[in-house]
Amino acid sequence: MNTFEDFLQEYPSYASTTAIDELRARDYGRLDRGEHIYLDYTGGGLYAESQLRAHQQMLAENVFGNPHSANPTSLFATEKVESARAYVLHFFNADPEEYDLIFTQNASGALKLVGESYPFGPGSHYLLTFDNHNSVNGIREFAHARGAEVTYLPLLLPDMRVDEAGLRRSLALAEDAGHNLFAYPAQSNFSSVQHPLEWIALAQSQGWDVLLDAAAYAPTTRLDLSRWQPDFVPLSFYKIFGYPTGLGALIARKTALAKLHRPWFAGGTITVASVQGDKYYLAEGHTAFEEGTVNYLDIPAIEIGLRHIESIGLEAIHERVRCLAGWLLEELTAMKHSSGLPLVRVYGPTDTQSRGGAVTVNFFDRDGNLIDHRLIEQEANQVNISLRTGCFCNPGAGEVALGFSRVELDVCFAQPGHEDRLSLDDFRLCFDGQSIGAVRISVGLVTNFNDVQALLKFAEGLLR
Ligand SMILES: Cc1ncc(COP(=O)(O)O)c(C=O)c1O
Repeated sequence: MNTFEDFLQEYPSYASTTAIDELRARDYGRLDRGEHIYLDYTGGGLYAESQLRAHQQMLAENVFGNPHSANPTSLFATEKVESARAYVLHFFNADPEEYDLIFTQNASGALKLVGESYPFGPGSHYLLTFDNHNSVNGIREFAHARGAEVTYLPLLLPDMRVDEAGLRRSLALAEDAGHNLFAYPAQSNFSSVQHPLEWIALAQSQGWDVLLDAAAYAPTTRLDLSRWQPDFVPLSFYKIFGYPTGLGALIARKTALAKLHRPWFAGGTITVASVQGDKYYLAEGHTAFEEGTVNYLDIPAIEIGLRHIESIGLEAIHERVRCLAGWLLEELTAMKHSSGLPLVRVYGPTDTQSRGGAVTVNFFDRDGNLIDHRLIEQEANQVNISLRTGCFCNPGAGEVALGFSRVELDVCFAQPGHEDRLSLDDFRLCFDGQSIGAVRISVGLVTNFNDVQALLKFAEGLLR
């Protein structure tokens, strides 16, 4: 196997990120103590132990009351929540005059807020890429229910990028009379493709509101909202810095937020509501979207987490991830069985241009037969490697990668007994029981060369 020196020769900039190795030893020591090879950063980021200490100290030393009252403990909690809100906007370089931020449970919660409130109707259009997380796909149900048109933009193999000519044709289909929403991920959680941010202004100039899903992108690439100005940006904080879970955000342009119609009101979202008068008045901005009591004990930990990321430098994280993903791709694709056949097939780009740190593959035996991803996971578990298998809640990308056609899917869904319920095993049977997923290896914040080598050694063990 190639050595660290070979790696450094090819990726010399990795040497500029040694501060992250020191940080890992200091603040993420549990990884090496537990001999964990953690390779699921797209699933969840890892927290530094210092984040926990800082948060615990804040909780231990202060009294937090339920926010939005005028008593001292409430005012303190409100101040911490508002400080976190301002810091997130600052982190993304979002002008607070232009952008607002709603705290949610996760990226899915942010997406649901858009879906249920977007003014879809007959004469409206929801355009989205095949490559999307299910929480973006799910918005189509709100669009369908209100009579809007839904259009999917296909992906091209082998890189799993979008056909730009097709995109331009679809963008020209904005409805003049209705509302048009275009949704795509800044980075795919399947192939790790980073789709062009230039599409934002292009789509807006043709009458589209743009929803840029930044959940997979934000952990390792800077999203500068002074340069790129999507209307809606959902994200989950645990993916960026690991702790706490249960918190995400919808960053939204104020003009776009004003277009949304909330389907109900709840505690905290109104100025006045009357029982006898059967009337309510929604509050302005983010307040109208934050239902009930916000998670005021954990929200301050977001600021701690983001300051931690800033102290490392997102650019350093990005560069390190680029080097490690590049090495992983090169080494994996070079592995051949004695039959001459390759060990893996990569779904997505095999270079480091406009891609993130996830490498999604399937493994094949010496005769070219696919090895079920569940088997790979079981074997990886034996050597304490945490990776992700399946379709990662991104069925559109999965269908393209695995070559499932519309006809095959229609036949499956139309089978008797499949009207309302379909288990994953039933679904698998539609495809002769073959594997319907892939293996995602994702590097992130504190991945080191040894982690990648451990994965490569594991892969080498599959060669025959
Ligand atoms: C691109 C993308 N969008 C949305 C989500 C949904 O995030 P959450 O499960 O935190 O709501 C994910 C989660 O993996 C994702 O990768």
